[in-house]
Amino acid sequence: MNSKVSKADADLRKILAEKRIKGIEDKRVGSEVFDKQTLETLYKLAKMGYIKQLYGVISTGKEANVFRGLDDHGNFVAVKIYRITTSDFKKMKNYIHGDPRFRVRTSNKRQLVTAWVSKEYRNLKRAHDVGIKVPKPLIAKNNVLIMEFIGDDQGNPALPMQESVLSEPQKVLNKVIEYMKKLYKDAKLVHGDLSGFNILINQGEPIIIDISQGMVLDHPLAMELLNRDIDNIVRDFNKIGIKITKDQIKAKIMD
Ligand SMILES: Nc1ncnc2c1ncn2[C@@H]1O[C@H](COP(=O)(O)OP(=O)(O)OP(=O)(O)O)[C@@H](O)[C@H]1O
Ligand SMILES: [Mg+2]
Repeated sequence: MNSKVSKADADLRKILAEKRIKGIEDKRVGSEVFDKQTLETLYKLAKMGYIKQLYGVISTGKEANVFRGLDDHGNFVAVKIYRITTSDFKKMKNYIHGDPRFRVRTSNKRQLVTAWVSKEYRNLKRAHDVGIKVPKPLIAKNNVLIMEFIGDDQGNPALPMQESVLSEPQKVLNKVIEYMKKLYKDAKLVHGDLSGFNILINQGEPIIIDISQGMVLDHPLAMELLNRDIDNIVRDFNKIGIKITKDQIKAKIMD
């Protein structure tokens, strides 16, 4: 028998026996269960104090599931767990190979997902550091990203703009444009998947999320992504009755 594998098995059994994360054993998403490496990663994060308890799923996406958790200090956290099997590797590969911050030249799925998660962490940090409201990133490890939980004190997550009714849509749009500008001018990034789906509304305020595909400006695709982001914002705000054009947004960002 392979001694490395059996040692890993023994380690995992030990960690499982410690039952460090409450509620993890029955965390199923549909028919999905956490694979072994994800479990190991979660237990390591538990040992480090990042998660003490994992509650139900907030969202099941194409590539990742987002859970609400609790850390050792009793704060809610958002735990985004990427699936190794069903992630869009072609997309990940294209985006990562063009990013000068990453020297990953691999086609190995786990390594790609790890790079992807660390890219999301770094993009969030860069955005956070220039004053854009995003969930503060706490740690990235393998296929798991832990970040600030956006929602109320009771643990109810904030809803995406697409599912919210805005009482002051013009104010929200102004903030979103301000953040797009900050991202572009100060963080030197474009989001790349910005739309009403990736803007959470918390007490009437927009918070930008899901920035894993965010690109540095010197990437050849950056301008194309920025244009697409602007198109999406125009479409989603026109839909709720706010008049704004692509050129107006562009002028504000480049101003
Ligand atoms: N920090 C957070 N706090 C509260 N809820 C969150 C947080 N991050 C994400 N969510 C919830 O999870 C949903 C999905 O998150 P996100 O957009 O990051 O992943 P995704 O769209 O599933 O990613 P992908 O499309 O790459 O699989 C969000 O719409 C939101 O409801
Ligand atoms: Mg999303």
